[in-house]
Amino acid sequence: MRLPMCVLALAAFTLAPAQEEEKEKDIDNPHHGKQEMVEAGRKLYLNSCSACHGPTGEGGRGPGLIKSGMIRGASNRRLFTTIKDGVRGSDMPPSTLDDGKIWQIVTFVKYLNAPAYETSAAGNADAGERLFFGKAGCVECHSIRGRGGVLGPDLSGAGLTRTYAHLRESLLNPDERPTDGYQGVSIQLKSGRRVEGVARNQTNYSLQVLDAKGGLHLLSSLDIEQVSFRKGSLMPGDYKTRLSKSEIDDLLAFLSRQVIRVPEKEK
Ligand code: HEC
Ligand code: HEC
Repeated sequence: MRLPMCVLALAAFTLAPAQEEEKEKDIDNPHHGKQEMVEAGRKLYLNSCSACHGPTGEGGRGPGLIKSGMIRGASNRRLFTTIKDGVRGSDMPPSTLDDGKIWQIVTFVKYLNAPAYETSAAGNADAGERLFFGKAGCVECHSIRGRGGVLGPDLSGAGLTRTYAHLRESLLNPDERPTDGYQGVSIQLKSGRRVEGVARNQTNYSLQVLDAKGGLHLLSSLDIEQVSFRKGSLMPGDYKTRLSKSEIDDLLAFLSRQVIRVPEKEK
């Protein structure tokens, strides 16, 4: 169990200089990383901004505010003034909200783009770890640090490579956030055998299927009777009712701490 701490320390170390540099000339966001301010900002955003930037920041009349390099790199000052003053010569209007509320919106917009590791998740990561490897059953499909199943993506680096919002959405509404390369499939072979798992590689002549035990099946279209692709995600869609609010927070806190870089799985 020493390895994760090591990697955490390293990640913190390599992130530090850039942040410190920005702090010197930038102004502080008084609400930085506070979860309740993220929620307050979300409400304001839905009222004042979502008509143009989309309810989840996906964009529309205005540019997308998620996966945005501009926002990830922007200083607090730049975001604050963009939102307060608007963008002259464009549709983006100045805001009539007071400064405190604008900072709440800045906090929310930053949160949409920061790696989960940098947001201070409310839950208890240790409790989340017990849920992940125990009662919640995540480990049946997801691996962390080499331990767990293969039907879902490896989550060892989820805290660095995913935003908190993405992790939360993936957990609560898996059907709305499908990840490429993990479509569930069930195949009836002419021999009578059935193979189930996720479809990896498909051509006109063959299909590669990874099963729950990690076995890779290369199936020729000549041997296949019928292929049924699953419409929704393989991931259970009922966690938002099956888990309590605090269990959800705990799981997200645990996932946010996962910072080991893993190479993208070969497909
Ligand atoms: C009437 C539509 C509209 C509304 C309402 C609006 N925006 Fe915009 N926003 C835009 C447009 C259009 C741009 C692109 C401006 C340009 O040409 O650079 C923009 C740009 C931005 C940018 C810069 C993004 C980038 O990648 O350069 C941010 C940040 C932003 N808006 C945040 C907000 C926030 C937060 C709110 C709510 C307080 C808001 N906007 C309300 C239309 C809107
Ligand atoms: C039956 C298998 C299964 C179980 C159980 C399962 N997942 Fe998943 N999960 C998947 C698959 C498959 C995907 C990727 C494809 C998709 O999004 O449909 C996924 C996607 C995810 C993602 C998004 C990954 C990414 O690449 O961004 C997260 C986060 C996640 N799951 C967390 C969890 C957590 C936490 C649990 C336990 C509470 C859990 N999953 C239980 C199969 C599962």
